[in-house]
Amino acid sequence: MAGTANGRGFTLWFTGLSGSGKSTISEIVELELQARLGGVEVLDGDVVRTNLSKGLGFSREDRDTNILRIGFVSNLLTRNGVGVIVSAISPFREAREDVREMIGEDFIEVFIDAPVEVCAERDVKGLYAKAYSGEIAQFTGVSDPYEAPENPELHVHTDREPKEESAARVIEYLEKNGYLTPVESSVKG
Ligand code: ADX
Repeated sequence: MAGTANGRGFTLWFTGLSGSGKSTISEIVELELQARLGGVEVLDGDVVRTNLSKGLGFSREDRDTNILRIGFVSNLLTRNGVGVIVSAISPFREAREDVREMIGEDFIEVFIDAPVEVCAERDVKGLYAKAYSGEIAQFTGVSDPYEAPENPELHVHTDREPKEESAARVIEYLEKNGYLTPVESSVKG
């Protein structure tokens, strides 16, 4: 990996409801960072739950454990100059703040925002239907809380702008803060 422009790693922490667009935007940003930095590490909640967090459920305690594990790994990578993208609901403010404290100024909280009605309408995985029918309990946004970030570094509304635009704003943030050398970005269209 060639490294970032300022030699510092970073963690882009995508938080938001299931179906808000975390993975979609993460994939676009990942491609751009692969091309421009020569590498980037992605920690996606769904994937992490099949290995590092295998066996954890969706109680508050298990979710917090999941988030702190992801945060721990992100910190190891970030402090060694790696760019990291995390994509996990991470519904509880306190756990996100714990991770922010661990990583420090290279922690970049990105609120991927869409109203729950829009996420439920998209219902990419068919989970909202099951949550509303009661087949799945403790589903974030339906029967479990989501605590929105109060002061995220970035707040994107995926119901109001195309995914490429949201991704471009993430890239722009990295440029403005010295992690990436500005060039005409392909995700800007
Ligand atoms: S987190 O709360 O611990 O941050 P994480 O992002 O890892 O969650 O996993 C969320 C994914 O698990 C969702 O995208 C969805 O596919 C699945 N899932 C299964 N049950 C639930 C539930 N009760 N609440 C939220 N997501 C669930």
